[in-house]
Amino acid sequence: MSFKDKVIYQIYPKSFYDKNGDGVGDLQGIIEKLPYLETLGIDMIWLNPIYPSPQKDNGYDISNYIAIDPVFGTEDDFKELVKKARERNIEIMLDMVLNHVSIEHEWFKKAVNGDAYYQDFFILRSEPTNWESKFGGNAWSRFGQTDDYFLHLYDKTQADLNWRNPNVRKELYKVVDFWTNLGVKGLRFDVINVIGKDDVLKDATDMIGKAEYTDKPIAHTFIHEMNRETFGKDPSIITVGEMSSTTIENGILYTAPEREELSMIFNFHHLKVDYKDGKKWTIMPYNFNELKSTLHEWGTGMSKGNGWNALFWNNHDQPRAINRFVDWEHYRVRGSKMLAAAIHLNRGTPYVYMGEEIGMLDPQFDNLTSYQDVETHNAYTQLLEDGLSHDEAIEVIQHKSRDNSRTPMQWDNTDYAGFSKQEPWLSIGKYDDITVENELKNGSIFSFYQQLIQLRKEYQVISMGNYEPFEVENSRIYGYIRRYETDSLLVLNNFSDAPINVTIPDEFLSGNILISNVACETIEKELDIQPYQSLAIYVQK
Ligand code: GLC
Repeated sequence: MSFKDKVIYQIYPKSFYDKNGDGVGDLQGIIEKLPYLETLGIDMIWLNPIYPSPQKDNGYDISNYIAIDPVFGTEDDFKELVKKARERNIEIMLDMVLNHVSIEHEWFKKAVNGDAYYQDFFILRSEPTNWESKFGGNAWSRFGQTDDYFLHLYDKTQADLNWRNPNVRKELYKVVDFWTNLGVKGLRFDVINVIGKDDVLKDATDMIGKAEYTDKPIAHTFIHEMNRETFGKDPSIITVGEMSSTTIENGILYTAPEREELSMIFNFHHLKVDYKDGKKWTIMPYNFNELKSTLHEWGTGMSKGNGWNALFWNNHDQPRAINRFVDWEHYRVRGSKMLAAAIHLNRGTPYVYMGEEIGMLDPQFDNLTSYQDVETHNAYTQLLEDGLSHDEAIEVIQHKSRDNSRTPMQWDNTDYAGFSKQEPWLSIGKYDDITVENELKNGSIFSFYQQLIQLRKEYQVISMGNYEPFEVENSRIYGYIRRYETDSLLVLNNFSDAPINVTIPDEFLSGNILISNVACETIEKELDIQPYQSLAIYVQK
């Protein structure tokens, strides 16, 4: 399956649709909503983890890799989902969380009980390094009653696996095979660029430790091996590696086809442009110039190096992009479309995160108990320790919590936004009339997404073209040109609430408007791009 003309839709299973009425979304709920997804036109659904888990990190702490958590349904439900989705030309992508397991996993339990074979599955040291966990605090915890410590780069209940041990790799490859044998055609590899830890672990000079374990050459070796041993045997499988802070150089190595590693990668650099001094738990208006130059650098670098980006603004770890990059109080609808066009016409494979196609917003809960996420609660404690008041800390959380995007999908105006008949596991966000029902009847965001998805299938310049930055000095416009054989496409996105004049290059003056979110009929040399307008001009030589 080529992945260049595909669009992938991300479902956070706990929050998509609750069919059995227990307040948590489930597989039968997804099956019920397949017609909706087919109408949108997407090719594949990525599901966040649906395996048994103590849910300390919402399923990213897996206690059994090869089963379905009863809260979501059964293996039969899963098989039914694969089959019924395929009948609508939709394939399923699963989340492979292979860097760590829950401490409730039998491998960890056996290790703690003294089984040396399983102890070598983990990263144990008598003298831990000074690394910090990504969720705050020390990255090492006491290993049972012993004098050793085990490494956990994430929550203290998520123990990192020792990929250097061939037995670990063999077990993990069996996991991949188990799911692909059930017909899974997509694999999203969680934090896969941190699997390659050195034999001898060193203290980090920055105390955080990222450089000591990120993008190590051995990570590439392991991924290549996994490709050869598992999914690489079926060319129709699409893979994506999550690597928040990787480099362009590594991005190319992970994805250039001749390397036989992955189809594409997610990087998060463009989503760190509202971090004050590089720190997430701060409030700062985003820096447009940094956003634009990051997108240009990655677009150009991956295009030249024959790498491939996964394109996205939203996911289950990010506050909603509409709240971050658009004056949403005035331009929610137009801004949602502009953000969509900026990535759907770009070079890479676009991902739609549930709810963005109807313009869902951050919930901005005003009390801590409404938030469920472990990272959010750790951050709250840390913010108070840093001297912030309760109100100040809540304000930061309203802007930065991962729960912002995890609130239940808003289907209609009945109780709990039609997500469930019961109080949901996480409260419903702000919705008024932001629902699927209303959007399909009266809205225009959903249909704009439909058009963008179709355009990728019709125009090879979108799916295959290379990438050139345009208007690099403009401090409001993110522009680029795509070229493929005799076709060219100019894309202009106004990230501000004022009209901006752009001089259109001569070659595009005879082109036609492929899509725009603001009525616009003629192309003139000096063109005013309206607030939050997105405009694409196509020309064939
Ligand atoms: C990834 C997931 C995130 C999870 C973390 C640890 O970043 O997207 O939700 O908490 O990995 O597994």
